[in-house]
Amino acid sequence: MFQLTRSVTWQALKGLQETTANDRIRDYFAADPKRFEKMSLRVGGLFLDYSKHHLSDEVLETLLELADHSALVQRRAQMFSGDIINVTEDRPVLHTALRNLGEGPLKVDGKDVMPEIQRTREQIKQFSEAVRNGEWKGYNGQRIISVVNIGIGGSDLGPNMACRALLKHRHPELSFHFVSNVDGAHIQKVLSDLDPATTLFIVSTKTFSTQETLLNAKTARRWFLDNAGEDADVGAHFIAASTNRQAAMEFGIREENVFEFWAWVGGRYSMWSSIGLPIALSIGFDGFMELLEGAYEMDQHFLSAPTAENMPVLMALIGIWYINFQGAETQAIVPYDQALHQLPSFLQQLDMESNGKSVDIFGHPVNYKTGPIVWGQTGSNGQHAFFQLLHQGTRYVPIDFIASLKPEPGVEDHHFALLTNMLAQANAFMEGSQEGSRLDPYSCPGNRPSSVLLLDELTPKNLGALIALYEHKVFVQGVIWNINSFDQWGVQLGKRIAGEISERIDSRSQDFDASTQGLLALVRGSFTS
Ligand code: F6P
Repeated sequence: MFQLTRSVTWQALKGLQETTANDRIRDYFAADPKRFEKMSLRVGGLFLDYSKHHLSDEVLETLLELADHSALVQRRAQMFSGDIINVTEDRPVLHTALRNLGEGPLKVDGKDVMPEIQRTREQIKQFSEAVRNGEWKGYNGQRIISVVNIGIGGSDLGPNMACRALLKHRHPELSFHFVSNVDGAHIQKVLSDLDPATTLFIVSTKTFSTQETLLNAKTARRWFLDNAGEDADVGAHFIAASTNRQAAMEFGIREENVFEFWAWVGGRYSMWSSIGLPIALSIGFDGFMELLEGAYEMDQHFLSAPTAENMPVLMALIGIWYINFQGAETQAIVPYDQALHQLPSFLQQLDMESNGKSVDIFGHPVNYKTGPIVWGQTGSNGQHAFFQLLHQGTRYVPIDFIASLKPEPGVEDHHFALLTNMLAQANAFMEGSQEGSRLDPYSCPGNRPSSVLLLDELTPKNLGALIALYEHKVFVQGVIWNINSFDQWGVQLGKRIAGEISERIDSRSQDFDASTQGLLALVRGSFTS
């Protein structure tokens, strides 16, 4: 059987890790005046500079061979054409169909899925326009001015991140709120500022069975009934994005207001589906379509560009170089753009829920590292929080810097400071401190790698392309590691045990370990005292 770590290319990369261990990134620039031109590329409104990496030409060529010798071409084609690649859940993986703007059918189980995707797009269009122009009325005839999305994980992070990123395109009379945490303080805080007569709740849940979301939705409905309408009015204030139409209707949502999506859309890949409703409500349906268009263009690039010029493939390979050959445990995401402040959280779920796996697609344990710990926050804030460790600590952390070039009118000087800070940091990580001798214990060692991803402007289209870029990066890494990036059994286990513990809280059950039982007794006490 094929063993990744025994392959010629993997062994060659191990050899290169040793022979390039003492290379300095800055020396690569000295040796090759064209390095920046060679190691940067543009796709639509996105520009990637990957020249400040610990990558010699030979390392890069060998990484490209790793991709070429993998099942990438075959698995990519299988994903886009709706084959069952999520083998443990026996499903296709078709978020790319949701943003497919091409002509022609896309068959799953012999049935063309494009007509139903288009029908749901049309439903999103009609609904978002009705709310935005005030035609959609609440129970007592007032227009909606507040939208609350209730969902968690993929049913929260994508629309939440995108609505914040595109805030400047938001409808001026609508405000958006996201409730995800089962901690009641979250929903209480959100509701305390709202008027039920002018509030619309979107219950976003693929399964309509997630405990946190159902509890929050019930609390929202109780608040609505206590402070405003009756049971019959719930339908004017609650809609759902779900594959579970029946459960949504039992909750009180009108059938025509259950926005469909499908089992073949993974939660963390669902912002392109009706889970993206808050985005369409906020920036308008045309803006939502621009988001899809940006993702679609990235899909086309991913499908057609040669490996050496394929942005998601290059980013995936660079990640693999650090994770599997340089001992990096984490990947920092640092957007120098306040509007992208939710991006690290979004990418954390995308990457860690997808590639946090230790068995391959056949269920055999892998003998190499898989997905990195993804973390980060906005620059320039991060500079004054965790950058010290990145500059001089004992960890080796590759960084993705992300920024948009176009300044906001009226604060151009801020934007200039923002971008120059980012460039200064990327430079400092690579160069280290030039002053002082190598023996100076306080000097910065440098030689720390980073990519810079520039958006021409933070538009819906460029955001769509950016998210699709990371989705495909995660996919390529999953293919090379031969893992299933589309299941999440660890999360399911947590969901199941939470259910069991709450069912048995009164039963003095001996089924759990001594620690859980001891802690449960304390929890029980806090509810009865
Ligand atoms: O976090 C696990 C998960 O299954 C995610 O994949 C999903 O986005 C989230 O739970 C919420 O699930 P649902 O949309 O079914 O409520």
